[in-house]
Formats: sequence, C-alpha cells, structure tokens
Amino acid sequence: MTNELGDLVALARRSVDLITSFQDVGGAYPASPTFPVYQFSWFRDGAFIADAMSRVGAQRSADAFFDWCTRVLRARRDQVLDLIARKGTNIERDEFLPTRYTLGGSDTAEQWWNFQIDGYGTWMWALIQHSKRHAISLEPYREALELSAQYLCAFWSLPCFDWWEEHPGEVHPSTIAAVSAGLRAAASSGVLGAPLESQCNTVCAEIELVLRTDAVVDGHLTKSVGRTDTDASLISCFTPFETLDSASDLSMSTYARIAHELAPDGVHRYLADTFFGGGRWVVLAGFVGWHEVRIGNIEAASRRLRWMHDQATGEGFLPEQVLTHALHPDRVAEWVQRWGPVATPLLWSHAMYLTLGCELGLWGSELSTDATARSSS
Ligand code: BGC
Repeated sequence: MTNELGDLVALARRSVDLITSFQDVGGAYPASPTFPVYQFSWFRDGAFIADAMSRVGAQRSADAFFDWCTRVLRARRDQVLDLIARKGTNIERDEFLPTRYTLGGSDTAEQWWNFQIDGYGTWMWALIQHSKRHAISLEPYREALELSAQYLCAFWSLPCFDWWEEHPGEVHPSTIAAVSAGLRAAASSGVLGAPLESQCNTVCAEIELVLRTDAVVDGHLTKSVGRTDTDASLISCFTPFETLDSASDLSMSTYARIAHELAPDGVHRYLADTFFGGGRWVVLAGFVGWHEVRIGNIEAASRRLRWMHDQATGEGFLPEQVLTHALHPDRVAEWVQRWGPVATPLLWSHAMYLTLGCELGLWGSELSTDATARSSS
C-alpha cells in the first residue's frame, strides 16, 4: 500500500468509527453531533449514511437505521392515511411528514423547512439495496414501505422544499428522482401488493416524463421546473438514482454544466447559494465523483476523493462545506453568527467519502466494525 492510499484508508476507517460512535442506540444518525440545529436525524442524510455503512459491511448499523425509519413511519400510520384521504384539499405544508426528527423519532419543536419528500424515497432505495447486498428479508419493513410508497404516490407532484431545504414553491428534479428511485426499488422488491406496485410503476413513468420534458432547458436538467440554472444535486438523477440513463446526452450535458460551473474539486450547490456564503460541499464531491466513476472518468473521481480527504480536520472530521473560495464571502459571517461555525463533523460527508472509495474499489466490507465483530466471534 502506498502512503497515499494508506492515508485515504485511514480516513475511511476513521469515518466508520465516527459514524458508529455517534449513531444513537435507537438507530438514528444525527446529521452532525456538534452543530446544534443538526443534532437530529434526517431521512435523507441517514439513508445515504446507512447505504455507506451497508457497503463497508457494517450491516448492523444500517439495520438499526432502517429499523428506526420503520418505527417512525409506523408511528405515523394514521397521519399518513389521513393525509392521503385529504389529497386534493387544502393541506398546510406543516401537516405533512417532517424531514428531520429527534433521535428518539419524535417531531421537533422548532420551526423547520420540513416539507421535503425526497428522504421518503431515498430510504426505500437504500433499504432495498441493503436487503439485496446482505440477503435480508424485507418482511419486517413491509408496513413502513407500504406507507412510504402510498404517501409518495399521493404527493410526489406537489412543490416542496428541495435537498437544500429551500425553494418550496417549485418541483425539483433531484427530489422527484429520489422519489422515483424509492418507488421503483419498492415496486420491484415484491413486498408491496400488486395494486400498489402498479401505482408505483405509473408514478415512476410520470416522474420520468417530467424529468425528460419540463425539467430540461437547452439540453440539460435545471435546478427546478421553471428555472434555467443548475444545481449539483441534479447529478443524483443519473447517479445514484438511475432515474435517467447516465450514458444519455441529457446526462452528459447536465454533468458538463455542473462540472464547469460548480465543481472545480469540491462542489458548490448552485451559483446563487448564500448559505454560509456558498462554499464547496464534501457530500457533493462524493456524488459528482461517483458519477465520474460511472461514466469512466476515474482520474477525476480519484481527484475528488483526494480533495475530500484533504478537507479533514486534524481530528479526522469532515465538514459540511469548505469556505475558501465561497461564492458569496460577504454572506459567511451572518450564518456563523446565527448557527456557529460550519457543521463539523457532518456524518453524511463521511458517508459519501466511504461510498466514493468503495466505488473506486479502494475499500469495501473489510472496513466494517460489524465484520470484525462477526469474524472474531
Ligand atoms: C442541508 C440538507 C441536510 C441538512 C442536514 C442542510 O443544510 O441543506 O441537505 O439534510 O443540512 O445535514
């Protein structure tokens, strides 16, 4: 092993340890254990964290998170069924399922930009991959998968907050791609009954049509339907969600625009981003790098992994974003004043580092603490 590879692997091991040590006993992952407003569990962050842990062989960590999601959804069965019954009536945004919960699975007390639906697709997508990877029965998850699928089939087309918890008045390609990935995975798992399965397939076809038509301007996807700018989260429509084909012209031109405008090494969310001044995000370097592996640009992907590695603090913590070269440096101070320094460590950043390294073939299940425990027991 060269020293360089040794350094990369050391941070991967550190990432597994950090995620393991901060996971709550009930299975929830805090987005960041040290950043006050992120000491909660998001379906979006958590699903990608569980996916990474599943890949590196930490099966029990991923199981515990999916069990937590299942308890959260089952506890809200009546709420979900009531919302579905009221579909088409005037439902207030705050009546929908929230995006973040306390680690114990309760709703949070403070106001948040809660109506986001992507996480309810992403967790299903991640769970079903996990179940295939580790040969796990989906039976214990059936009710929660059904609730999630019914909820998304009913409400996927409503405007809601995006991956960045902004722009609630628009429909976002990266949101509906996550919905479609979750519904497609659930429908093909065989765990939903035939009527719900066919409803999911119909919605997936509708989403694909929106993505190919309303969400395209000048040959590339746009940040939201009705806009013309780009957003790095759009890469998820191709990688990992495969809602659209990675080898298509639409993929190539969407990637080219993201790479040109937003992704020198670390990746900005979008040009007008002013949150902490609009820094370069570690998670997005992971997603863009993952896509680069998929389209065969291994050199670019390896550079992104190295960049992610180089953002770690002396303690081996990866931040949410890096503020050098922020797009709007004059907007940094107001956020530091409001919420404190950038969230560090952000567990989703560690997860994407793990996933990109797996995709590059640098590590896999040998990293897992679960695997070590299994082989030594
Ligand atoms: C990001 C979300 C993320 C949350 C917790 C927000 O600032 O925009 O994507 O889920 O932080 O990490």
